[in-house]
Amino acid sequence: MKNLGIATSIAAAHKDMPGGLLPALHGIQDALGHVPPDAVPVIAEQFNLSRAEVHGVVSYYHHFRSAPAGRLLVQVCRAEACKAMGADALLAHAEQRLGCGVHGTSADGRYSLEPVFCLGLCASSPAIAVNDEVHARITPALFDDIVEEARQDS
Ligand code: FES
Repeated sequence: MKNLGIATSIAAAHKDMPGGLLPALHGIQDALGHVPPDAVPVIAEQFNLSRAEVHGVVSYYHHFRSAPAGRLLVQVCRAEACKAMGADALLAHAEQRLGCGVHGTSADGRYSLEPVFCLGLCASSPAIAVNDEVHARITPALFDDIVEEARQDS
């Protein structure tokens, strides 16, 4: 219920803004870590949209989550420089190591895996970020070490 109140007040603050739905959804996700499905009807009401329209926007943009992320958010860069340096193989390794696919969360709720498109470390690719901390020149072994260290710290 508390989450619903937060979502409602954020939606209300954006409802009169042109194109306010996306900023509202960003605000809700920033505040709650995801856009709860039970918030969709109140968002729809605030913006005078159908639930299907709001749900369509939430599901269209991979950035928005309908469920909380895992405790560790692992992002693997898939932009050009990193792809040229083996990002696809690194992503496949990440899926296996974390036990979840891209845009997924492991069954134990420990990890979420997301693609990201440039972390500003192109000259030292491939790059990843773990809970917003960036790491460069990642090999599968280094990936495992970083994830294990982050897991122990979390
Ligand atoms: S392309 Fe991966 S960090 Fe820029």
